[in-house]
Amino acid sequence: MEENFYENEEKVDGYTKFTPTHDGALLIDVLGEHLPEQAAVLELGIGPGKDFKKLSRRYRMTGSDFSQLFLQRYREQDPAADLLHLDARTLETDRTFDAIFSNKALIHLSPDELQQSFNRQHELLSDNGLILHSLWFGEGETAFDNVKLVYHNEQDLTKMLETSFDIVALKKHAKMSDGDSIYVLARKK
Ligand SMILES: C[S@@+](CC[C@H](N)C(=O)[O-])C[C@H]1O[C@@H](n2cnc3c(N)ncnc32)[C@H](O)[C@@H]1O
Repeated sequence: MEENFYENEEKVDGYTKFTPTHDGALLIDVLGEHLPEQAAVLELGIGPGKDFKKLSRRYRMTGSDFSQLFLQRYREQDPAADLLHLDARTLETDRTFDAIFSNKALIHLSPDELQQSFNRQHELLSDNGLILHSLWFGEGETAFDNVKLVYHNEQDLTKMLETSFDIVALKKHAKMSDGDSIYVLARKK
């Protein structure tokens, strides 16, 4: 990915103002059906932190992003927030979590990087821990404003996850329009 996109004030302002047709409420509700309140949850790529704020009402949240700019902006709104500077590809932390959540943060990873991230997430999860990630639905990749966007579907996600996770739900949903997105909820084996 173009490393600087999410470190650019103007791009980050533009992204922060962007309002998708559907927010992350559906994803948070799906997680809520499987994860008890007060569980320790790590969000990857919080961006402006809209889902992070909602998740914080239910869970002990740790937010993370590769962009220092998003982290710095969120800290200004909520100085007490537990935030980590993490690259989803490597996840260099010794903390552990009951669940790991992301909404369109893993879309910039190549298939190999995503596989590496899933392997590392497995290591960071407590026994029977959950992952819930939403990605763009489709195949292949495109570039938008020089940023790589990688699409995923039931087949490639199942292949990446099935050896170390039990897939609980794998469903298409909408961010901007019906079926443009897919989420996977899976439990650590
Ligand atoms: C499309 S935005 C989504 C932001 C937020 N989750 C939302 O739903 O509005 C992608 C987010 O992933 C972050 N990101 C991109 N590459 C990353 C990486 N390798 N590791 C962690 N975060 C990354 C970006 O900084 C940005 O916050």
